[in-house]
Amino acid sequence: MPNFTYHHVFEPASEPDACPLLLLHGTGGNEHDLLRVGRMLSPTGAILSPRGDVNEAGALRFFARLGEGTFDPAEVMRRTLALADFVQTATRHYGIDPARLTAVGFSNGANIAGTMMLLRPDVLRAAILFRPMVVLDHPAVHESLVGRRVLLTHGTTDPLVPRDHPDRLASLFRAGGADVQLQMIPASHALTPQDIAVAESWLAR
Ligand code: MLT
Repeated sequence: MPNFTYHHVFEPASEPDACPLLLLHGTGGNEHDLLRVGRMLSPTGAILSPRGDVNEAGALRFFARLGEGTFDPAEVMRRTLALADFVQTATRHYGIDPARLTAVGFSNGANIAGTMMLLRPDVLRAAILFRPMVVLDHPAVHESLVGRRVLLTHGTTDPLVPRDHPDRLASLFRAGGADVQLQMIPASHALTPQDIAVAESWLAR
């Protein structure tokens, strides 16, 4: 058994060809939060769901922040690389196919899934980002995301995500050649059934 650096849940696939998911919860959540959503999106696929290892006054998340929507790039990079290393160790250990691994992240979890796509494009095949924002304003390296797919869902009345961020984030991924879909949802920051429906049809494409 490797020395895993994150507490996590792993559920094996019951069908070998089903899409494996990496679930990344939002601030104040834990590794169990997105299991139901994960099962809706991939009923028979493997699921890897780590718990955020940063404790912000009792609320777990995946990197520390300076304030709401204010980030330290060095902290974000360090935590992103650490999570990417964990994911690679876990995929090897559990026999998950990295060429098909799709991240599903909400809020802070969407943010670290996005920075993982930008900084470690080898780790994920695709990412579903619910309510992400621009955390690292770095475009992906040219052609580093060719063959990768990203879905972003933005809540049109979300008070936490600035209005220009979804388009800016989409451009950062497109700079690397990713196939990006940005979907506006008439909602606030919380996940809605419409987010799940959009993600289901995007995955089926
Ligand atoms: C959050 O509350 O998690 C923020 O909206 C996103 C973040 O801090 O990464």
